[in-house]
Amino acid sequence: MMAHRPEQLPFPVSGFTIAPRYSRSALVTLYHGDRLELLGQIRDGEARLVVTSPPYNIGKKYEKKAKIDDYLQGQRETLRESVRILGDDGSLCWQVGNHLVGTEVKPLDILIYPICEALGLRLRNRIIWHFEHGLHCSRRFSGRYETILWFTKSDQYVFNLDGVRVPQKYPGKKHFKGPKAGQYSCHPLGKNPGDLWIIPNVKHNHVEKTVHPCQFPIELVERLVLALTNPGDLVVDPYIGVGTTACAAVLHKRRAAGADTVKEYLDVARRRVELALLGKLPRRPMDRPVYQPDPRLAITRRPPELGQPTLLKV
Ligand SMILES: C[S@@+](CC[C@H](N)C(=O)[O-])C[C@H]1O[C@@H](n2cnc3c(N)ncnc32)[C@H](O)[C@@H]1O
Repeated sequence: MMAHRPEQLPFPVSGFTIAPRYSRSALVTLYHGDRLELLGQIRDGEARLVVTSPPYNIGKKYEKKAKIDDYLQGQRETLRESVRILGDDGSLCWQVGNHLVGTEVKPLDILIYPICEALGLRLRNRIIWHFEHGLHCSRRFSGRYETILWFTKSDQYVFNLDGVRVPQKYPGKKHFKGPKAGQYSCHPLGKNPGDLWIIPNVKHNHVEKTVHPCQFPIELVERLVLALTNPGDLVVDPYIGVGTTACAAVLHKRRAAGADTVKEYLDVARRRVELALLGKLPRRPMDRPVYQPDPRLAITRRPPELGQPTLLKV
């Protein structure tokens, strides 16, 4: 497998390429058609990261709701091809929520894990992506997280932790006794972001919102791209939607390839990638803190007819 060298890429951009079929010389491929057709164009071991949010089989306008076994068979085919195109030091990240059978919840990561395990993948993290907006449920607690299953193909894998460190809660903290007294007790570049990621989801007033009903935020993919790939690497998204993965990739000097069956989404994806390359893509920056409402300004009050909450004595 020939390595892609970052200096061979057209950065800074002049006459960059967005190709309709996969080619090793294309910076970005946006393939209109089925994900297996795109994956079939990519050679064994060529990608460093496959990251996607597949259809959840919940009857969105871009999918036909199938029996769960048929849906999982389709996922198995996508996963098998994804593993084939991954380099031995590569990663696969499957971002999923719940499938619903009637009113019963079927967590997709639990159903997908055994498929990945059988394909020889090794789970590194089950990342919880927490967000604060979504449907308000009345017969169960409202869903406010989804998961990312991060697998590697082997035990030797790219993991650039320094590229994704986040600020410590107490950055100036020092050892106060012992041989390291006076030295910083925290890592100078920040702390490991952990496996609970609080990132706003793309709802109507999000700066990244497009016509797509379920796009994931760029900053979610950026963290994976920065940690799990090197500049010049190929990042593949078999269900690319409006191109969020491709944007995250080119923003950090990686190549990208993705497929979608809906032409309208790919048209938006193309425009977003172009804007990303020009440094003009509307997006929420990775380091922006999540908005915290001021509790003193809350307008909701406990209705008086409910009385005061009773404290349990234990
Ligand atoms: C959850 S969305 C992904 C959205 C994407 N992460 C983004 O941020 O825009 C799943 C996408 O899979 C696409 N899709 C459905 N079946 C497909 C197939 N067989 N091959 C490729 N894409 C497909 C849908 O059109 C939809 O855009």
